[in-house]
Amino acid sequence: MISKKMQDAMNKQINEELFSAYLYLSMAAWAQKSNLPGAASWMRKQSGEEMGHAMKFFHYIDERGGEVELLPIEGPQKDWASVLEIFEASLAHEQHISSRINDLYGLAAEENDYASQVFLQWFIEEQVEEEASVDEVVQKLKMVSGSKNGIFMVDSELGKRGDD
Ligand SMILES: [Fe+2]
Ligand SMILES: [Fe+2]
Repeated sequence: MISKKMQDAMNKQINEELFSAYLYLSMAAWAQKSNLPGAASWMRKQSGEEMGHAMKFFHYIDERGGEVELLPIEGPQKDWASVLEIFEASLAHEQHISSRINDLYGLAAEENDYASQVFLQWFIEEQVEEEASVDEVVQKLKMVSGSKNGIFMVDSELGKRGDD
């Protein structure tokens, strides 16, 4: 059975993942109204993935005989100055999530909770991928440095992101 301490930390992580879903959905709404359909679609998919992450913790807590507790979700930011800004904010947010996952792993190690260490392994790898894919977009947007043509091209590329 999962410890109370680990259960509480994982319930907090459900909240972090749901907040991530909320944040990316807010970025999708911003991109939609800013005539960036590709970025909007990318962010909607990102938001869906975060829901999936929350559900992984949801099922895991239950599987280990713990109790799921849904905490209030903070309202996300609504406005950004540019598409570069939303991707830079996403990168900063993913770095924050990576450090939360690392802390959870640290706690699992401290408690000799091997099952949780194995479970968290997937998230450690996922965070490496997420940071890299968001950083790639940031780099592309920096390369076009605000040119309308360049943003148009990056946006249509973002629209091609598959469901992964
Ligand atoms: Fe996540
Ligand atoms: Fe993420």
